[in-house]
Amino acid sequence: MSTPPTADQLHSFLRTRHSVRRFDPRAVPRPIIHRILTTGTRAPNAHNRQPWRFAVLTSPQPKTRLAESMAADFRRDLLADGLPPEEVEAQVQRSRARITQAPLVIVLCLTLADMDNYPDTRRQRAEFLMAVQSLALAGGQMLLAAHAEGLGGVWVCAPLFAQQTVRQALDLPADWQPQGMLLIGYPAAPPRVRQRKPIEEVTLFFDEIED
Ligand SMILES: Cc1cc2nc3c(=O)[nH]c(=O)nc-3n(C[C@H](O)[C@H](O)[C@H](O)COP(=O)(O)O)c2cc1C
Repeated sequence: MSTPPTADQLHSFLRTRHSVRRFDPRAVPRPIIHRILTTGTRAPNAHNRQPWRFAVLTSPQPKTRLAESMAADFRRDLLADGLPPEEVEAQVQRSRARITQAPLVIVLCLTLADMDNYPDTRRQRAEFLMAVQSLALAGGQMLLAAHAEGLGGVWVCAPLFAQQTVRQALDLPADWQPQGMLLIGYPAAPPRVRQRKPIEEVTLFFDEIED
């Protein structure tokens, strides 16, 4: 067995994942896709019910079908927002190209089939959110797994705004709720590094130690 990374190595690896939005056209080999999915499904998840489902797209046809169907929804929403038509077309075109040019698209879906059911909306909503949280952990872990393979990726929220359209375009099972998608490939250029707020700004420490 290979030596596990030191804590320092692991932290610096985790901290050097950045969203990658432009890809080399090189395909992602199937065994690597499998490893990414397997590592993703090692994520912690509510009751170990594994409420995640994945639609994996690598060939042009399904990617185009997905991109075209979401483009129609996106165009409708932007026009309803009152954006000028040429601006709408530019945005729609960008969004469509991002999907068709990504070597690997993983649509992240949620199923509530194995989650608990409650008679009241408060607990039912909490259960739903636990499923969403579980899927998000798997998605985050897949982005890190892709990073470990020398790939880059980005989480794109568009399917969440077009759930029914995505389900129909890919003929997904009725209980699969699209929540987002990962675009993954070999980076075409080094990604931009986005800064984070300092820990002190986002954390309350309830220490017992007085100084
Ligand atoms: C739930 C979620 C939705 C996101 N949606 C989009 C998106 O639609 N388009 C996009 O380009 N990036 C999207 N991102 C990526 C974020 O913009 C990115 O993670 C953030 O700016 C921090 O940059 P970093 O990932 O390089 O550290 C999303 C990320 C998350 C977690």
